[in-house]
Amino acid sequence: MLEIQDVSVVFHQGTIHEKMALSHVNVKINQGDFVTIIGSNGAGKSTLFQTISGAVSPTSGKIFLKNQDITHLKEYKRSRFIGRLFQNPLMGTAPSMTIEENLALSACQGHYFRLKPITHQQRQQMREALKELNLNLEDRLETKVGVLSGGQRQALSLLMATYAKPQLLLLDEHTAALDPQTASKVLKLTDDIVKRHQMTTLMITHNMEDALRYGQKIMIMKDGKILDLIDEEKKKNLTVEGLIELYTSQTHEYNDRILLRNEAVL
Ligand SMILES: Nc1ncnc2c1ncn2[C@@H]1O[C@H](COP(=O)(O)OP(=O)(O)OP(=O)(O)O)[C@@H](O)[C@H]1O
Ligand SMILES: [Mg+2]
Repeated sequence: MLEIQDVSVVFHQGTIHEKMALSHVNVKINQGDFVTIIGSNGAGKSTLFQTISGAVSPTSGKIFLKNQDITHLKEYKRSRFIGRLFQNPLMGTAPSMTIEENLALSACQGHYFRLKPITHQQRQQMREALKELNLNLEDRLETKVGVLSGGQRQALSLLMATYAKPQLLLLDEHTAALDPQTASKVLKLTDDIVKRHQMTTLMITHNMEDALRYGQKIMIMKDGKILDLIDEEKKKNLTVEGLIELYTSQTHEYNDRILLRNEAVL
């Protein structure tokens, strides 16, 4: 469903600051795949997402979504079918608007927006969707989003990013800024929503355990390249130790913070 053909991204080309953030990336993601992405700082993970979502234009190469060439499609047009979530809970929601206004906004993702009165039926749909978060937000539709906690806001951002049922969902370390307990709650929610709607999803994480626990495939990135895409069969038989071993043998990174962070679970 997503095909990336020989995509390279060079920032500040021709200057002393030239940086090849993506280098001849080729990958095919199937419909319904949930892929976790690991790689150290600067590996090119976020740049890959920026390129897929249209925030960054590839220097060379092509991107296809459902066989349609979207390489030059504007970012706002892609947002109709690509949902995104970032590390910062403040980025996915509008703080001065209420929960229901935020959800109404996300329902018309990428289209010209005029806030019309929210109908009874829409409100009912919002309540049902919010109920699934298990955060008691369904009775607080008129609460301003700015007063919610980081975890509540990120859960709401997740709901907003998936409300219009995007064809592709991109999650860039979306739980990294939350405390461990809230992070695991939001991850579980993510997994539920992705499974329920069989959403094609790419999720960047710095946590090996999460990379292994969620999704069917694992992508390993380094220096702007995809070193491996571990398939479902192979992933099923992997342990955290096995994944770390595989990661180090491919990246030759022994002191990476991924490894340090996972010492506790070994
Ligand atoms: N807008 C930009 N201008 C110049 N260089 C950039 C830009 N965006 C990213 N880079 C560089 O491209 C490389 C890849 O960055 P990227 O943000 O994709 O890494 P990442 O894998 O997401 O890392 P992290 O785990 O730290 O988020 C880095 O060397 C980064 O400094
Ligand atoms: Mg990043």
